[in-house]
Amino acid sequence: MLNLKVLKNRGIWGLICLLTLLVFVFTNSFGEIVYVKKKGDSGPPPEGASAQKSSDSPQQSDVKNSESKTSPTEEYKIPAQPQTANSKDAYKSIYVYSGLANSKSIALTFDDGPNANFTPSLLTILQEKNVKATFFLLGEQVKLFPAQAKSIAEAGHELGCHSYSHPNLRKASKETIEKEIADTQDLIEKTAGVRPKVFRPPYGNSSSQVVDICKKNGIDYFIFWTVDTNDWKTNSTKDSIIEKALKEAKGGAIILMHDRFTKSVEAAAVIIDKLKEKGYNFVTVSELIKERDNIK
Ligand code: NI
Repeated sequence: MLNLKVLKNRGIWGLICLLTLLVFVFTNSFGEIVYVKKKGDSGPPPEGASAQKSSDSPQQSDVKNSESKTSPTEEYKIPAQPQTANSKDAYKSIYVYSGLANSKSIALTFDDGPNANFTPSLLTILQEKNVKATFFLLGEQVKLFPAQAKSIAEAGHELGCHSYSHPNLRKASKETIEKEIADTQDLIEKTAGVRPKVFRPPYGNSSSQVVDICKKNGIDYFIFWTVDTNDWKTNSTKDSIIEKALKEAKGGAIILMHDRFTKSVEAAAVIIDKLKEKGYNFVTVSELIKERDNIK
């Protein structure tokens, strides 16, 4: 009798453990499955967002106008590649990771600007080398440095939205996301005369809610990246940035950099020269997408 009772208890505890395990597995994977099916996107949301911490957002003082002493501590993960990169679904997706693999086009992208110290010298380099790039602007930086935002547009570069204050939008409330996107879109349009069609979510953190809100604000594409130069890391140098870019760049690549460090601006000049020598040409992200779409 006693033995039976023990066995019965063991059975119940075993069942409880199994159920707990099942609940754990489902809650950790099911959300992604639902998301992919619902949105019809080409793959899971990028960059392993579960590892991201909102408290790791770069401080205001990191951006503004001076070279940051403390780099953002949050890792920029290389986003997950779409599993069906050549399918019609992937083509239709608003998530863009790269252009055509067999093209000779590369898109240079610069985040977190504009910045009065670094953006002007970068613009000079790009003009000298006859290169067009894409700048993903922060609303708060545009407010601080409207003349620089305007000069980016006047030089023929593409302007993209990068939120107002660089939060983790995956964790933000609907109201916060709406304000971050709408305020930035309005400010860029008012300041530089163009309303961005492309958006780069801070840290690559996105969600179906972020997508829906951005679409309502005139954004057609979310631009991730193929190559992270790691220029935002404290221990990166001009040489390490150049080395990583040249090692990983390929046809259709989208290269992630920031116009908030001297080392980035100096590295960009070398990266452009070296990749030109290899036969690549530089386009904006919208041109990269157009090139891809024309082939399909
Ligand atoms: Ni950023």
